[in-house]
Amino acid sequence: MKAALQPVPAVVMYQCHTGFAPAAIAPLREREIHVWHGSLQPSPAEVAGLAQLLSPDELERADRFHFEKNRSEFIFARGTLRTLLGSYLGVAPADLRFAYSPHGKPSLDDRKTVDFNISHTEGMVVFAFARSRRIGVDVEKVRRDFDVEEIAERFFSVAERLALREIPEPQRYPAFFHCWTRKEAYIKARGEGLSHPLHQFDVSLAPGKPAALLGTRPDAEEAKRWSLWDLAISPEHAAALAAEENPATAAAGD
Ligand SMILES: CC(C)(COP(=O)(O)OP(=O)(O)OC[C@H]1O[C@@H](n2cnc3c(N)ncnc32)[C@H](O)[C@@H]1OP(=O)(O)O)[C@@H](O)C(=O)NCCC(=O)NCCS
Repeated sequence: MKAALQPVPAVVMYQCHTGFAPAAIAPLREREIHVWHGSLQPSPAEVAGLAQLLSPDELERADRFHFEKNRSEFIFARGTLRTLLGSYLGVAPADLRFAYSPHGKPSLDDRKTVDFNISHTEGMVVFAFARSRRIGVDVEKVRRDFDVEEIAERFFSVAERLALREIPEPQRYPAFFHCWTRKEAYIKARGEGLSHPLHQFDVSLAPGKPAALLGTRPDAEEAKRWSLWDLAISPEHAAALAAEENPATAAAGD
C-alpha cells in the first residue's frame, strides 16, 4: 500500500538579537523547523565572547580570513550556531563537535538528532534547525547590477529560464533571486554543492506563486519528497528554506 503523504512541517521564525537568552528558546518539535535570522554586524565584545565557544580548527579558520570583517562574521555565525544547537540539545556549546560532508556541509558529529544549515550574505545570517530531516537554507541580497538573463542562462533550468522571460522587467530581479535561493536551499539540503547539476531540477519563480520544487530528473518522485518555503526576513533580501520529508516516518507510512 502506498504511504500517505506526510504533513508538511511548520516553519517557526525567530530573530537573533544581541544578548538573546538561549535558555528561553522553545523546544524543537518533530514536525517543526525553526528559522533564526539576524543582522550580521556583531560588536567586538560579542565576537570576543563567542570566540570562546569555537574549537581550535574553527579558530584557525577564522584567523585565515584576510579581512577582520569576515573573521568576526564567521566567529559570530559559528558561535551563535553553537549557542542555539547547545540550547536545543541541552549541552554546552563549546562541547559540540562538527563533521563535514565531502562537499563541506557541517553536521553534528555525534548527536544526529538535530539537522541544521546556515547561510550568510551582506548584513544577514540565517540558521535553520529540524529533527531527523535534511534541510537547507539560503539568503541573498536582491541586486540589480547584473545581466539577469546571462546568469540565468548559466545556472537555471530550461523551464526556469522560460518562466523568467515571461516576468515583466521590474519584477524580474526579485523573481531571479527567489529562484536562486530556492535552488540553492535545495542543493544545500542535499549537501552536494554544485556537484548536483542545477539544470536537473525546476523550482517555481513566478511572482505570487508559492515556493515549490516542481520537477526533478531523472527521478521524478524526488520532487514529491521536498517542501520549499520563502522566508520573509527583510525587504532587501530573498531567502528560502528546503526540507525533506522525514525518511523514518516516510518509510513507516506515518
Ligand atoms: C557552500 C555552498 C553550498 C553555498 O555557498 P554560499 O551560497 O556562498 O554560502 P552560504 O552563506 O549560503 O552558505 C555557507 C554555509 O553553508 C554551509 N555549507 C558549506 N558547505 C555546504 C554544503 N556543501 N551543503 C550545504 N551547506 C554547506 C556552511 O555552514 C557554510 O557556512 P560557514 O562557511 O560559515 O561554515 C556552495 O556549494 C556554493 O558555493 N554553491 C554555489 C553557488 C551557486 O552558484 N549557486 C547557484 C544557485 S542557482
